[in-house]
Amino acid sequence: MRTIDWEPTKNNIIMIDQTLLPREYRIIECVTIESLCEAIRTLRVRGAPALGAAGSFGVALAAHKSGASSLDGLMADILTAGQTIIGTRPTAINLSWGVARTIKAVEDARNTKEVRMFALDEAKTIADEDVEKNKQLGEHGAALLEDGDTVMTHCNAGRLACVDWGTALGVIRSAREQGKDIKVLSCETRPLNQGSRITTWELMEDKIPVTLITDSMSGHVMRKGMVNKVIVGADRITQDAVFNKIGTYSHSVIAKEHEVPFYVAAPVSTFDFEHMEDEIEIELRKSDELKFFGSYQVAPLNVDVYNPAFDATPMENVTAIITENGVFYPPLLIDEVRIKH
Ligand code: MRU
Repeated sequence: MRTIDWEPTKNNIIMIDQTLLPREYRIIECVTIESLCEAIRTLRVRGAPALGAAGSFGVALAAHKSGASSLDGLMADILTAGQTIIGTRPTAINLSWGVARTIKAVEDARNTKEVRMFALDEAKTIADEDVEKNKQLGEHGAALLEDGDTVMTHCNAGRLACVDWGTALGVIRSAREQGKDIKVLSCETRPLNQGSRITTWELMEDKIPVTLITDSMSGHVMRKGMVNKVIVGADRITQDAVFNKIGTYSHSVIAKEHEVPFYVAAPVSTFDFEHMEDEIEIELRKSDELKFFGSYQVAPLNVDVYNPAFDATPMENVTAIITENGVFYPPLLIDEVRIKH
């Protein structure tokens, strides 16, 4: 099944609970906006493009579950739900993009029935487009990979971070479909281990060769010549920086030092044409994520903790950005992308 979808008989959102992987593959249902927000906050659904779909399906869910009988009442409920959803995670721009696009889609609805219909149609379109765009992005990116390459990646920018196929891992999937022998080094991605729990799991499901390393090994493997390319996803791309999972910036510095191409794969919906790096809020997460490994305590309970979920990689460290509209090379990137948008 897709990472996130709509359950048509009950009009609920269904998703793969990513917090349980790789131990258990379980589909869960979100029947209220509260349960959807809980799922987003706890990373049951995560990854920028999947959050875009979650935001959009969330507006559809609000439309279906609202008790309002008037058009104005329903629109007010949808706007409130949209704000609540956007407030769950601030850095990945796709979340607010998905909410805003779906709210816009219901603007011309003439009655409550049309609001529900338009919202759900838009959410399904966003989900379908995500898969299609990732495949296009994958084709563009695959051209940059050579037979025999070993690609290092960080976090999970795979099908579980999207509706399907993936961005960074989508490029690898497309290259392998073309018959190229591509191997992957997956950084574990502390503190929540999306790399070791999710990236390795989904690549192994697809029989793509993957080797797990700790985040701190990236310098060693690049210095040893064990990595031909780095490909990561993105949560937001401004004119001057790429926001992605904490640790990405360090990998980019090491890649630059060792002249390893550093690629970012992301759909155009991840671009922020309005802001610069300094204006973006980086999500700070709970200290328990560092004090505990699962339920096992690994630090003094009263230690001070700093736990940003993302970092910003300056554009000068990025070799190219792979999108569904082609490959863009800094520094002209934003204007070129905007023109093609
Ligand atoms: O905190 P997460 O797991 O939502 O962070 C996800 C990432 O940083 C991904 O690399 C990014 O969203 C790209 S997903 C295609």
